[in-house]
Amino acid sequence: MVLLTEIDHVAIAVRDLDAAVAYYRDAFGAEVHHREVVEFDGVEEALVKVAESYIQLTAATRPDSPVARFLDARGEGLHHVGYRVDDCAEALARMVAAGATPVDAAPRPGSRGTTVAFIHPKGSFGTLIELVEE
Ligand code: CO
Repeated sequence: MVLLTEIDHVAIAVRDLDAAVAYYRDAFGAEVHHREVVEFDGVEEALVKVAESYIQLTAATRPDSPVARFLDARGEGLHHVGYRVDDCAEALARMVAAGATPVDAAPRPGSRGTTVAFIHPKGSFGTLIELVEE
């Protein structure tokens, strides 16, 4: 059975969220579809819609957040890919059974009222993966 239904979002870590939003507006004519602070993750996100998917511009809201540590270590750039799935718990279990290393042991709330779980890049060909159930 195919679990992936769509690319939900491509997340890009940025230092200055307003500057990134302005760049996407000026360069692509893109407007922000949704903007939200996610306290759990220590981030503020601005979502630019592309067809049925999003570019998720992501900035840190505190120095100890994972995105802040990523920016310190690697600089700005591609942070993770969010895959849309119908059932986050089922997809997580399938990935773990296939050898993936979970970051989240169980699905949890994400932005936009979604349910999400992250998979560690180690063992997933170097890409941080987020499973997103809308
Ligand atoms: Co995400």
